[in-house]
Amino acid sequence: MPSFAHENRILWLWQVVLTLLTLFRVPDVLAENLLNGARLGTFPKPDFRTNFTLQSNQGSGSFKEIRHGLNADPFYVRVYAKPRNGNNTAFCFNGIGSSQSSPSRSSYGGLIFAYNSEFVRIWAPSDQNGHIVFVKDGWGGEVNTQESNEAEVVVEVWKNGPAPTFQIEHVIDTRLDISSQVYHQVDHELRQLPERVVVRLSPVVTDSNNESNPNMGFWFHAIASSQNPDPNSNFGG
Ligand SMILES: *[C@@H]1O[C@H](CO)[C@@H](O)[C@H](O)[C@H]1NC(C)=O
Ligand SMILES: *[C@@H]1O[C@H](CO)[C@@H](O)[C@H](O)[C@H]1NC(C)=O
Ligand SMILES: *[C@@H]1O[C@H](CO)[C@@H](O)[C@H](O)[C@H]1NC(C)=O
Repeated sequence: MPSFAHENRILWLWQVVLTLLTLFRVPDVLAENLLNGARLGTFPKPDFRTNFTLQSNQGSGSFKEIRHGLNADPFYVRVYAKPRNGNNTAFCFNGIGSSQSSPSRSSYGGLIFAYNSEFVRIWAPSDQNGHIVFVKDGWGGEVNTQESNEAEVVVEVWKNGPAPTFQIEHVIDTRLDISSQVYHQVDHELRQLPERVVVRLSPVVTDSNNESNPNMGFWFHAIASSQNPDPNSNFGG
């Protein structure tokens, strides 16, 4: 691995591919109170679904790989944890595409998932400060806090969906700590608010990271917020 200045602040050690899709333009003629029904109606049953119990704090037992077997990069994947007890029993907590904190300083939690044309990989926290469901310590005024190390996990995979009205790919290299590399603005040219936007990334193989790219070809979803402003710990996404 080459060494770089500010190495402790590297978000992601590999190059990433970023894809943007906009989907589901709802016809303007629909009355406002019909929109929600119309949107839900266009979202069909998943082509693959499975559920199982997953625990945090179990070492490699907190990792699970599922074969969806659809033989194509899925259109969409949803992974969520559903606690069986506590304040949020049977509420669904969606997984995300990257860790935003390291365990050294404080508690953290949630599921990370990625997928390719064959498998879905799911990571629950395995550090003792990590929890498969965690809403606590500074969220929502501590209403309905939850810290759970076991939950039902549901994986849903949609093979196909409507063609996007806009899509673009771009390579971002977070090893280069310059804003033109790690910030990228795309003109989607639709001139209306898109109904749905998906940004996903896949680690790119280079000579220097060949040995450390076990998720080559897997897709990780981007999210819309940083939860970790601490420059001394590792984070990503
Ligand atoms: C999987 O889902 C079914 C139907 O919702 C439920 O009855 C079953 O208990 C779940 N299994 C696990 C391991 O959570
Ligand atoms: C449920 O939430 C309340 C705060 O709203 C908290 O005081 C309590 O400890 C929580 N219960 C459990 C089991 O986590
Ligand atoms: C990565 O390593 C494997 C063997 O370890 C080799 O076959 C392959 O060509 C390498 N790929 C790149 C991009 O260096």
